[in-house]
Amino acid sequence: MRAASVSDYRELARRRLPRIFFEYIDGGSYAEETLRRNVADLEAIALRQRVMKDMSKLDMSIETLGQKLSMPIGLAPVGMAGMYGRRGEVQAARAAAKAGVPFCLSTVGVCSVEEVAGCGTPPWFQLYMLKDRGYMRELLSRAKDLGSPVLVFTVDLPTPGARYRDVRSGFTGASRLEAALTQAWDGITHPGWTWDVFIHGRPHTLGSVVGAVKESRRVTDFLAWIARNFDRSVTWKELDWVRETWDGPIVIKGVLDPEDARDAVKAGAQGLVVSNHGGRQLDGVKSSVSALPRIADAVGDDLEVYMDGGIRSGLDVLKALSLGAKACFVGRAWAYALGAGGEAQVARMLATLKSELAVAMILTGCNSVRQAGPGLLDRD
Ligand SMILES: Cc1cc2nc3c(=O)[nH]c(=O)nc-3n(C[C@H](O)[C@H](O)[C@H](O)COP(=O)(O)O)c2cc1C
Repeated sequence: MRAASVSDYRELARRRLPRIFFEYIDGGSYAEETLRRNVADLEAIALRQRVMKDMSKLDMSIETLGQKLSMPIGLAPVGMAGMYGRRGEVQAARAAAKAGVPFCLSTVGVCSVEEVAGCGTPPWFQLYMLKDRGYMRELLSRAKDLGSPVLVFTVDLPTPGARYRDVRSGFTGASRLEAALTQAWDGITHPGWTWDVFIHGRPHTLGSVVGAVKESRRVTDFLAWIARNFDRSVTWKELDWVRETWDGPIVIKGVLDPEDARDAVKAGAQGLVVSNHGGRQLDGVKSSVSALPRIADAVGDDLEVYMDGGIRSGLDVLKALSLGAKACFVGRAWAYALGAGGEAQVARMLATLKSELAVAMILTGCNSVRQAGPGLLDRD
């Protein structure tokens, strides 16, 4: 099948990836209410069709946090991408750099920040608050020294939400024997992935944190270490010491409440991502897009407001921009594309989002993404 849309990449990834990884990408927490809402609430928004405007010129570029982006889209941090494609973070970072959009590297990426930066464009760097502050400090200075332009500080994971699909697939909670058997079966039934990732995509460690998890060998051991290391005691004050090591822009990821958004401004952040972690944390919370307008109103121009969660097309991007986002990040969309066929498919997926955004702009009479606002929506 030749993929035409994000849902096609999802189907290709479902066929190519071992079940444990497909379910890990695709799933959300608990009953997956919020995961569904993220998508459904975007779908329910109606764009306002306009005609007979001069749409010969379109400007999709934005400047944000000192960077010029070719379109208001970025690749959200997605853990373990190196298990979906051979050295997956590097492949996705290359596709993003060629498309002129940021790639944000997860703390729990298979490829280290050094390996990704080595491909030419230092990534935005995502960090979780870990109990091991010494190691966090070390990670921050490594990313800074490599030239990462933006720190994305994820705050909606003081503890991991329960993901039922990961238990059912045997990804979490399985004994070593069960895990080995699942892996062997996955290898036999997914030969393309086995050749590309399992054999040629090593090492399968979490590259940026490998130094802190010396006793571990399997990716799941690293994830268990991370899960034990999430810090529930974290408050806004922690940003003070983060700033001692990191003097660049800081984006707070995982804000869903206007009061928290105002606190992020007070704490001196330069940006925030309206996000519920793609419906992977507290199930039952509202969708990102429904939280967006109040947050955008609450902070005005005090910082950059981005959004992620449920973006599956360029049309969704324009809807989010109309409701106050400066740019959108996509998580599953690029993880599916990577799983479907590596860098080439991530590049095609980004090109698809771009052409869909262009069509949406032309048919709503919007010449520049910077002018997107509520007037592009039909609210009757
Ligand atoms: C497989 C997967 C792994 C993720 N890993 C991380 C992570 O390591 N750090 C982080 O801040 N967010 C992580 N996220 C959340 C994404 O950054 C983003 O918030 C979410 O995917 C957006 O929703 P979408 O998938 O509907 O686009 C992950 C999401 C997925 C699907």
